[in-house]
Parts: sequence; C-alpha cells; structure tokens
Amino acid sequence: MTDRYAVFGNPIGHSKSPRIHSLFAAQTGQDISYQAILAERDGFAAAISAFIAAAKGSARGANVTVPFKAEAFRLATWRTPRAEAAGAVNTLSFEAGAIGGDNTDGAGLVRDLKRNLGCDPAGRRILLLGAGGAARGVILPLLLENPAELVIANRSEETAARLALEFARLPGCAVSVKPDGTGFTGLGGRQFDLIINATSAGLGGAVLPLPTSVFAPRCVAYEMVYGRETPFMQQARATGARVADGLGMLVEQAAEAFFVWRGVRPHTAPVLAALKGN
Ligand code: ATR
Repeated sequence: MTDRYAVFGNPIGHSKSPRIHSLFAAQTGQDISYQAILAERDGFAAAISAFIAAAKGSARGANVTVPFKAEAFRLATWRTPRAEAAGAVNTLSFEAGAIGGDNTDGAGLVRDLKRNLGCDPAGRRILLLGAGGAARGVILPLLLENPAELVIANRSEETAARLALEFARLPGCAVSVKPDGTGFTGLGGRQFDLIINATSAGLGGAVLPLPTSVFAPRCVAYEMVYGRETPFMQQARATGARVADGLGMLVEQAAEAFFVWRGVRPHTAPVLAALKGN
C-alpha cells in the first residue's frame, strides 16, 4: 500500500510542496503519494481526521502551512524540542494512535544558508527582521549555529523585546548567544553580516524602515518570501549585498520533512534547479 502524505493550508492552490515531494520520491525510489488539501479556516482538525480516515491506514504524515501551524502544534500529541521552541508545527507524523509534531523551517533556512549559499551563520552578526511566527521558527536553529550576535528587530519593539527575552531564557539550551530585541530605530549605527527578513511586509510590497547603514560589506540579505522581488531585496541589492529569496528554504524544509518521515535525505540541488526553471 502506497504511504500517503498531504499539505494542508488555506489558500493552498499554488503550493509547490506536491511537486517537491514527488521529485524527492522519484529520486529516492520511495513509494509515496502527496497531495495538497484546502482546509476550511475553522476546519483544520476535521480535515486531518478526514484525510486519515480516507487513507484507511496508509496516512503517514502531513505538512502544514499558513494559517494552521499553531493549530497543528496543539493537535500534535507529542512534539520535538525544535517545534516546542518554535511554538508552531509544519510537519506531522501519524503513528499508531499518536500524532508527532515537528518544525523543519529553521533547519531548512540554516541548510539553505550553509549548503546552497555558502553562508555559515557561525561567527556572523545576524539581524532577524520580524517577530511573528516566521521569525520565531528560525531563532533556535540560528542560535545553535553560534553566531557572533542575533538581534531581532520588529515594527512593534515590544514584541521583539519579549521574543528575545523568551529565547534568552530557554531552559537547558546549549547556546551561548543571547538574542537582543529592538525596534527599527534602534538599529542606527549597527552593522550586520547576515540580515534575514521574516516579516510579511514584502507580500504587500511594504518598505521596511531599515537604515541602509545596517548592511555590512559583503552582507548576505535573505528574504523568506519567494517568487517576487520585494522592497527589502531591492534595498539590499542597492547596498551591494548578496541577495537570496526563500525558495531554497522552501525546498530544504521539505527535504527535512521527507527525512523525518522516510529516513532518507534527498538531494535538493536538482529539485531547486527544476523549480527555478519554471
Ligand atoms: P508570520 O507568521 O508570517 O510571521 P505574523 O505572525 O502575522 O506572520 O507576523 C508578521 C510579522 O511581519 C510581524 O513581525 C509584523 O510586525 P508587527 O509585530 O509590528 O506587526 C511584521 N510586519 C508585517 N507587515 C509589516 C510592515 N508593513 N512593516 C513592518 N513590519 C511588518
């Protein structure tokens, strides 16, 4: 019986995940099916139950995207430490009577930075823009890479300060760097080697009030949004920074989920190239 997987979201029509996972499956010879499922905004848990019931014992897992990651966190009967730290789940595993919750977003970002972009976060001064779900998901994986510093800057300064404090106090966490939280105005006179935009500002074309002076020479500017040139990318490019969008993170978080489910790590380069091709 073919093992069944799906991605749940709303909207979900333009999801690249079915294509990515079918390319991974073909490459690794895994017998799986993977579909995109639109869940009603108030019907996430029901949609998961219906998927499991319809699969008659062959449902093995699911990816979860906007706006259901917090609900997936609550639905999981157990969670990995990285999902606990993120407060969100993007990967569910269905086991006998239990639902495991994981979060592969941060690992996907770190892998894209290190493997695809040659940008090791170790020793770098990192600026993370945003303090919502997307930012939260990547903080622990970034801290575990031992950056020189991690500053979280957000439109609402208070949210950034709260988030930084939460991660500075993480119990039992083997990180030496304590993140700092600030508003955009607090960035004057500071420079960073890696700037990651985890705000949703680019989706609406909004310009961030980011001082141009924050881009250090040879800075890498990473935009988590993909498929469009955002004002952040334009600003970064104008300073001479190296710019990347979030397509690599999308493919790498999928590869990490595939590894969680199948125990096999697919090669991402050909899949990334295929997605860039059209
Ligand atoms: P996500 O899950 O994508 O992180 P979210 O939790 O709604 O979505 O968080 C959106 C983030 O983008 C927040 O950090 C938000 O800043 P505020 O906390 O001040 O709201 C940020 N954001 C959204 N639009 C923005 C804009 N036009 N300028 C600056 N920051 C913006």
